[in-house]
Amino acid sequence: MSRLERILICCVVAYGISSFWAPVNAAGNKNGSNSCVDCHIHLPGSSFVEVKSHSWKGSIHQKKGVTCDKCHGGNPHASDQKAAHAGVLGSSDPRSPVYYKNIPSTCGKCHGGEFYKFTQSLHYKMLESKGKGPECVTCHGSMVTSILTPDTVASVCEQCHNERMGIFPYVPQKAKAVLLLFKESEALLDADRKIYHPSRGSARERYLREAQSSLHAAKLDWHRFDLDSITGQLQDLYSSLEKLQSESPHKP
Ligand code: HEC
Ligand code: HEC
Ligand code: HEC
Ligand code: HEC
Ligand code: HEC
Repeated sequence: MSRLERILICCVVAYGISSFWAPVNAAGNKNGSNSCVDCHIHLPGSSFVEVKSHSWKGSIHQKKGVTCDKCHGGNPHASDQKAAHAGVLGSSDPRSPVYYKNIPSTCGKCHGGEFYKFTQSLHYKMLESKGKGPECVTCHGSMVTSILTPDTVASVCEQCHNERMGIFPYVPQKAKAVLLLFKESEALLDADRKIYHPSRGSARERYLREAQSSLHAAKLDWHRFDLDSITGQLQDLYSSLEKLQSESPHKP
């Protein structure tokens, strides 16, 4: 066997091993092993805990390596269950990072912008004072972290905003309309980004940037649930896009 052949075989074997292990690595342990993931992902999936564990699979958090310990605590380097669970508390324990009142600050470690806006909302005050009011998981789920759409948003708001409970029953339909407008504005901006490739420092570049920051502000404003302010941000976005379209491409 030539030297080159031997190197080739080594590569093929190494590749085979790495692709064999790939599904395990895709389970979230970006930098080596994570005992929470390694153990939980292989539990059969028949109990509540096991079903919960599996719901993390395929989430954006899995893809970005946000492992169980990031939200639940514990020791992801200990392979023994008891040692790994040191500090892990069930969601009904008020000291747990996933106790409903603590969820916003747990998620807020990484989603600071949303968390900050959320703390300015009436929802947050209700949650703090009376223990009622939505928190992050009400709208995004815990491990699956779904994004609300115009089709799903009304049903989430309706849990509390309905005629029976009498708190702002107009909210679900208004939220649906505003989220629809939000999604359309996002798509419009995306389309314009594909059409226009303005040169640096040009007026068009500035309008695109302004539209982008209005969209970002609208996204964050969701977390204050100020639907009128979101609409205002989207109006700004439209006027930036109008200026973008009417701007002569030859002007610097
Ligand atoms: C060797 C296997 C193993 C390891 C390692 C492990 N777990 Fe568990 N975990 C389990 C089993 C089995 C259960 C359910 C039965 C039980 O609670 O004893 C469980 C339960 C849980 C629960 C539910 C607790 C409750 O009281 O409702 C959470 C949350 C959890 N684990 C998170 C983690 C985190 C975070 C890590 C890593 C820091 C981790 N686990 C490491 C096997 C493991
Ligand atoms: C982005 C944060 C986040 C990540 C990552 C995450 N969880 Fe959770 N998990 C939560 C929150 C918040 C709750 C409580 C709310 C709920 O039950 O929906 C929860 C609930 C649970 C429960 C139910 C326990 C109880 O006491 O109610 C189990 C079991 C669990 N998670 C296991 C895991 C495992 C295993 C992983 C990794 C494979 C994981 N979680 C990853 C946020 C997370
Ligand atoms: C350790 C950091 C970390 C924690 C803690 C965390 N996340 Fe994330 N989350 C991320 C990253 C990274 C992304 C990928 C998007 C990005 O890069 O901004 C993400 C994405 C998301 C998305 C967007 C999903 C999409 O499809 O675009 C939502 C919604 C979300 N997280 C909600 C939550 C919620 C709710 C919690 C608490 C239960 C939480 N996150 C806790 C890091 C974190
Ligand atoms: C009452 C419902 C609700 C609550 C509570 C809520 N969100 Fe959101 N969240 C939304 C909506 C609606 C959007 C905008 C959807 C979109 O971007 O298309 C959003 C967007 C996001 C995004 C951006 C996703 C993307 O498209 O990039 C993140 C991250 C996020 N929320 C995190 C959080 C965190 C963290 C909390 C808790 C502090 C929280 N959310 C509480 C409804 C909610
Ligand atoms: C878990 C219950 C719950 C859910 C779910 C919920 N809300 Fe609320 N919301 C409340 C409560 C409680 C109040 C305060 C009512 C009061 O003033 O007495 C409130 C108030 C509001 C207000 C008035 C706030 C203000 O600052 O004047 C708006 C707007 C609102 N919610 C929007 C939403 C939207 C949009 C959704 C869905 C994406 C939603 N809510 C989901 C419980 C909820």
